[in-house]
Amino acid sequence: MSTSESKTIAVIGSGLIGRSWAMVFASGGYSVKIYDNQPGQAAKAIVEISKQLKELEDAHMLRGELAATQQLALISSYEDLSQALEGAFFVQECVFEQLEIKQSVFQEIEQVVGKDVILSSSTSCLVPSSVFSKVQNKSRCLVSHPVNPPYYVKLVELVPHPQTTATIMDTTHALMTKVGQVPVCLKREIDGFAINRVQAAIIAESWRLVQDGVISVKDIDLVMSEGLGMRYAFIGPMETMHLNAPEGLEDYMKRYGEGIMRVLTSFGPVPNFFDEGAGSIIKEMCELIPNNEQHLSARKERRDQLLMHLSKLKKDK
Ligand SMILES: NC(=O)c1ccc[n+]([C@@H]2O[C@H](COP(=O)([O-])OP(=O)(O)OC[C@H]3O[C@@H](n4cnc5c(N)ncnc54)[C@H](O)[C@@H]3O)[C@@H](O)[C@H]2O)c1
Ligand SMILES: *[C@@H]1O[C@H](CO)[C@@H](O)[C@H](O)[C@H]1NC(C)=O
Repeated sequence: MSTSESKTIAVIGSGLIGRSWAMVFASGGYSVKIYDNQPGQAAKAIVEISKQLKELEDAHMLRGELAATQQLALISSYEDLSQALEGAFFVQECVFEQLEIKQSVFQEIEQVVGKDVILSSSTSCLVPSSVFSKVQNKSRCLVSHPVNPPYYVKLVELVPHPQTTATIMDTTHALMTKVGQVPVCLKREIDGFAINRVQAAIIAESWRLVQDGVISVKDIDLVMSEGLGMRYAFIGPMETMHLNAPEGLEDYMKRYGEGIMRVLTSFGPVPNFFDEGAGSIIKEMCELIPNNEQHLSARKERRDQLLMHLSKLKKDK
């Protein structure tokens, strides 16, 4: 079988994100070969995936057309890197978030795979030009950055290396769409990509407002969860503005643009997340939700349940 016709994907690293990718790709009918350099780890991942697929099927939340047992049958585990890579047309790397580890993993991978195989990294914080600096042919390399948990939050940021070809971006975009993710393409690499830059802006102003004594921790979270977030689950900031003035975005800016610019110039500097003021914000948060295992896992459980319902709602919309 030539690699261009291959329906096999190699997932390198079988932690939280590797397991999620394996489930997402299998839901789209792809064969998935999982590799982990920790002995027994990839096999353990399959046991965990099997459990999760059954739970998802019971909850009627399984993705794709295939039954849980059929999806499970598409996933296999390997303790040998070259065996895992054999026949794959796409490699999704999900190892620890450490630059040197990723660089050497991709160096190893490149020595084994054919020249048309796409090399994709799950990195959250490292730019492609760093991750792929030791790869010879960078034209087939990109970052495909998922959001946790990828099974319910479908956004994937596709970030090119300066040398990545348009074909590689297009093929990856098509693959992600086919398996039910929602890919977005960055036109060039930038620290934080898009999602973490927008998130940092929200964190910064929320933090400043609490630190400056304008609002409580509890209430700034409500500003998002009961206010902005209600719309943002379905329409982004651009469409929100476009719909919020009778004649669309241009009209919106005529009405509100100056006010937004005035507010923006009143934003403070980058907040200090480590000083005394930070300590009191952290204390206020911990009074709402104590930072012990019991309370945190209960809230995480609630978050994941709600995300599951929301993803159902978005599917039906
Ligand atoms: N956890 C998240 O919320 C999240 C979200 C988006 C992206 N990511 C990114 O995904 C990647 C994986 O994160 P994770 O949370 O799954 O980590 P994790 O620690 O749960 O899993 C990492 C796995 O990689 C394996 N591994 C380490 N070195 C390896 C090597 N040289 N070869 C093969 N396997 C190796 C480990 O044994 C482990 O099983 C990171 O780059 C992370 O930044 C994580
Ligand atoms: C580099 O990768 C591209 C994209 O996969 C491929 O078409 C090309 O032949 C490769 N070049 C070399 C020298 O291997």
